[in-house]
This record gives sequence, C-alpha cells and structure tokens, in this order.
Amino acid sequence: MFSETRISQFRDHTTPFYFYDLDVLKQTLQQIDKHGIRKGYHVHFALKANHQPRILEEIRKAGLGADCVSGGEVQRALDCGFEPHQIAFAGVGKRDSEINLGLEHDIFCFNCESVQELQVINELAEAKDCTARVALRINPNVDAKTHKYITTGLDENKFGINEEDLPLIFELLPTLKHIDLIGIHFHIGSQIEELKPFRELCDRANSLNQVFSDKGIQLKVINVGGGYGINYADPDGNAIPDFEHFFGLFDEHLNLRDDQELHFELGRSVTGQCGSLITEVLYTKHGRQKNFAIIDAGMTELIRPALYQAKHSIQLLTPISTETDTYDVVGPICESSDTFRTDLEFPKLERGNLLAIRSCGAYGEVMKSQYNLRQGIDSVFSVDLD
Ligand code: LLP
Repeated sequence: MFSETRISQFRDHTTPFYFYDLDVLKQTLQQIDKHGIRKGYHVHFALKANHQPRILEEIRKAGLGADCVSGGEVQRALDCGFEPHQIAFAGVGKRDSEINLGLEHDIFCFNCESVQELQVINELAEAKDCTARVALRINPNVDAKTHKYITTGLDENKFGINEEDLPLIFELLPTLKHIDLIGIHFHIGSQIEELKPFRELCDRANSLNQVFSDKGIQLKVINVGGGYGINYADPDGNAIPDFEHFFGLFDEHLNLRDDQELHFELGRSVTGQCGSLITEVLYTKHGRQKNFAIIDAGMTELIRPALYQAKHSIQLLTPISTETDTYDVVGPICESSDTFRTDLEFPKLERGNLLAIRSCGAYGEVMKSQYNLRQGIDSVFSVDLD
C-alpha cells in the first residue's frame, strides 16, 4: 500500500517507472540475516533477478554474496564492492573470456555444468598458471512443480551434470590439475511456493554428498541454489517470505558434516516484493465483449505476464471511483500477449489514473527490452523521496 504522499510524489515522475521501496528490502534482508546468515549459512544474491547498484549495495551491506551468470554480472558485482571471495559464477554456457575474468579475479567458485566445461576451465586455469575452485552442478531430477519455463532440475532440462556422468568425472578429476573441486551445487527451479520440493532436494543432496565422500572426496560446499517463491497475490499481506521455515527445513533435513558449509543463491525472495512498476492509464476502451484499460507500460517493461502467464497484483492508486467495472489491463506493444491481467475488477478506470503493478523487484527491470523501439525508463528509490 502506498501513502497519499507517496502517490503524489509518483506524479512528479514520468511513467512508466520502477519504484523500489528500500525499507521492504531492508526488512527482507534482516529476516535472511536472522534465519540464515546468523546460523552460519552463506547466502548469495542471484544478480539475474536485479542488478541495480542501489539494490546491490543494500544486499552487500547485509552480508550476502553474489551469484552471477555472465561476465557482465561478475563485473557488476565487483563494481558494486562484492569481494571476489563472495562471488560464485554459474551458467550453462560460459564463454572463455568470462571464465578468464573469473580466474583473473580469483572468484570464490565456478558452478560447473558439464564435463566439457570442467575441462575448459582446467585448460584456461592452466594457461594462467592458477587453480579454479569449482562446484559441480548436479541435476537432482526433483520436480519443482513450477512453470515449465522456470523448472531447471529435471533430466529433460539443459542444466547441470547428470548422475550418469559422475563416474567419468571421478576418472578425470586426478588429471585436472588446475581444478579444486570444493562442492556440489543444485538449483531445481524458481517461484517454488511449497517447501516439499526443497525437502526432496535435501534427500538427493544427502545421498550425493555420501557418494563423493565414499570416493574419498571431502566436499566443503553444499550449494542448494535458490527458487524460493513470493506471494504475488498479496504483496502487502506477505511482503516478506517466511525465511524461518525455508532455512529451517535445510537445517532439519540436510546432513552436513562439521567441516561443510551450506550455500544458497536467492533471487526473487530477496528483491521481488520491494519493486513496483508504476504506470498510467492511457485509454479505456469498451469493446463488444470486454473493457480494456490500455496502460503506458508494456511487455517491454515487464515481460513476466507474457512469458510465464504470471499474475501480478495491480492496484489503482488514484483517484478511486465508487463504481466498479471489469477490465483486461493491456500494454501498448503490438502483440496480443502484451496483456498484464484479464477480467480484473477495478474501481472504474479513467485516462490518467495511476496504477501500481506489484511484486516486480525480481525479473522485472532486468528483463526489459527495446522492442518497438521503446524508450528507457527510470528507476525511483524510496530513499530519494523520503
Ligand atoms: N541459482 C540458479 C542456478 C538459477 O538459475 C536461479 C534462477 C537462481 C539461483 C535464483 O532463483 P530465484 O531464487 O530467483 O528463484 N525470469 C524468471 C525466473 C528465472 C529464474 C532463473 N534462474 C521469472 O521471471 O520468473
């Protein structure tokens, strides 16, 4: 919910724009600290969810590390003050130049996704006469029961190394002199709303941990990835995910040895609820079957509804009529998929009304595009308005 003052401040900015409430972010980080970091867990923020320097600064100050999936993200993390030893580099298709960037900075770890990648990292490290710390991303074949585009831990997905490849890796390892295998890594998917898939992941991680230890390989790092979901339907009632139960589950079910560290890579659950896309109604149109509210934000600013059929809560900020009507809220882009919500009941909408599309702090601004040669949009931070 936004105060009257806040809404009038929004009027001073050209819509559409992203608004970030840093208080919500800080409260979220406090819970991560309380239930995760203070228990000794290492939490990395997945920069793919949001790479705004202002946001990253808060996250870094709260003691999280950085989980990166490109050279650009590694560089952004470094530029924003993350120490190399706090940076993990994942991704199924790392280019040589990106691996070299990681090696030059001696980052904490490469999360390696194939046998061939392991060999390439070894060669590149050899050329630089250094050693790369590596965690093997293993596909745990756990169904995250989320949208198929954001399920990652099944055998049919492109991510990770399958268990069948492990004997080959055990055979190769002694020859890979520039690889220091420090851990295993998993990530089963994103926007996982129930804890059950994470419970299954614990079982798989326990048995794989045992497989390595039976081979005489003492892993230091168990990285269980990210994926914890947020409540898109009620961003005010559930602004902060229940981290107590999330971290508690791993505490209870993961069997770590005393010398092992537990790592997480959280994205959406950290920044999702602190961001909103503020937009204005350009036109209302009353068709034969439907009413349309045509807004000035499109799939170019927020692609999640078009790409994953995501439903973000949309709030009318001003002014509120007492009558209601039902609308499809659509953007200006020349694609029918440029639809944010269908059949949504609202106080009667008019040209010039301000709307907030909520829960946009993760995978919102980072996924914007210039399709239709759209102009760039602003980011507005609560601290600058307070
Ligand atoms: N670690 C790995 C290896 C990942 O692939 C991801 C996300 C994360 C961590 C962070 O996951 P999170 O905690 O944010 O769920 N654009 C989609 C989400 C794609 C997620 C990709 N991987 C969306 O808007 O829903």
